[in-house]
Amino acid sequence: MFQIVEQPDPARMFHDQYAFYSSTSRNMQAHFEQFAGSVMNDVLAGLLNPFVVELGSNDGTMLRHFHKRGIRHLGVEPSQNVADVARGNGINTISKFFNESLAQEIVADNGPADAIMAANVMCHIPDLPGVAAGVRRLLKPDGVFIFEDPYLGDMVAKTSYDQIYDEHVFIFSVNSVTRAFAMHGLELVDAIQQVTHGGSMRYVLAPKGSRAVSSRVAEQLAKEREQGLDRAETYLRFKQNCETSRTLLVQTLDALSNKGKRVAGYGATSKSTTVINYCGITPADIAYISDTTPIKQHKLSPGAHIPVKPYSEFARDYPDYALLFAWNHANEIREKETGFIAAGGNWIVYVPEVKIVP
Ligand code: TYD
Repeated sequence: MFQIVEQPDPARMFHDQYAFYSSTSRNMQAHFEQFAGSVMNDVLAGLLNPFVVELGSNDGTMLRHFHKRGIRHLGVEPSQNVADVARGNGINTISKFFNESLAQEIVADNGPADAIMAANVMCHIPDLPGVAAGVRRLLKPDGVFIFEDPYLGDMVAKTSYDQIYDEHVFIFSVNSVTRAFAMHGLELVDAIQQVTHGGSMRYVLAPKGSRAVSSRVAEQLAKEREQGLDRAETYLRFKQNCETSRTLLVQTLDALSNKGKRVAGYGATSKSTTVINYCGITPADIAYISDTTPIKQHKLSPGAHIPVKPYSEFARDYPDYALLFAWNHANEIREKETGFIAAGGNWIVYVPEVKIVP
């Protein structure tokens, strides 16, 4: 299991000022609509009055598709502000941390679930055994638990070390998920690669023996062995790759600063906090970071105190270069920012390698 050692208290991260709204990215909205559609088609079809639960349901971006079709649903979302948005749209949501006792309460009130989903949530929860036990309790004997998170194989292959930050307690692999959930009677029955968040994996789990196991599971496990994800030297090489990436990014920013170029950050992502502090980037390197999320604007980046400004600042007066911190949304952003490029702007990217691209 790849995990951070020092874990902040979840109550200090998921509260009424939670800064991330799932609905901010258009591509992610489409992705969650597809995710919901696959659950309806592959799991719920033909079931009488099914019931679905989403862990970490945020502003209801995924659950609204179930709500729209009158499917019984419940979101579990401890961050009050984002949960309020979902409730405002009629999506049933409770603001508590999920564990075995909450699972018991949910079963008492609604009966067991046919499907439990979680997207970019499981890797945030330090008490993995507590959640796994809760899932086991909440799930019907023929139900499924489907979750997706950034994938260790992609992080290592792309040197995307910025996936490592306070909220990401775990960076899962097929191997670690198989073993962690087996202890709770849950079997990995499918593992499906996703392009979201720079490379993710969707894991499908079911009570042991209840469903056929896809050949993809063994294939992915073999790929992980081939990639060396079970060997320490792979992570020593990863560390060296991170250091090389840092050196190149710092050199690139220094060279631009020496030429008097104006550089802004694009996307005040959580990931950027790791890059900025690991590379020692300061407001002298990057004047500001542009972000469309109101709650992040007019604040300072953690550690380096680079100002976060509304997107309108970026669009009003394009910088010479934009450091693409939201690289996981690169396609969507590059489609949108043709004006920046037409004005002579260039992107600085650092995943999978540091380079300047028009
Ligand atoms: P996110 O993808 O959640 O990354 P992380 O998990 O590392 O925080 O965050 C994307 C951020 O980028 C979010 O704050 C919104 C911002 N953003 C923009 O400012 N403009 C855009 O066009 C997009 C797609 C995102």
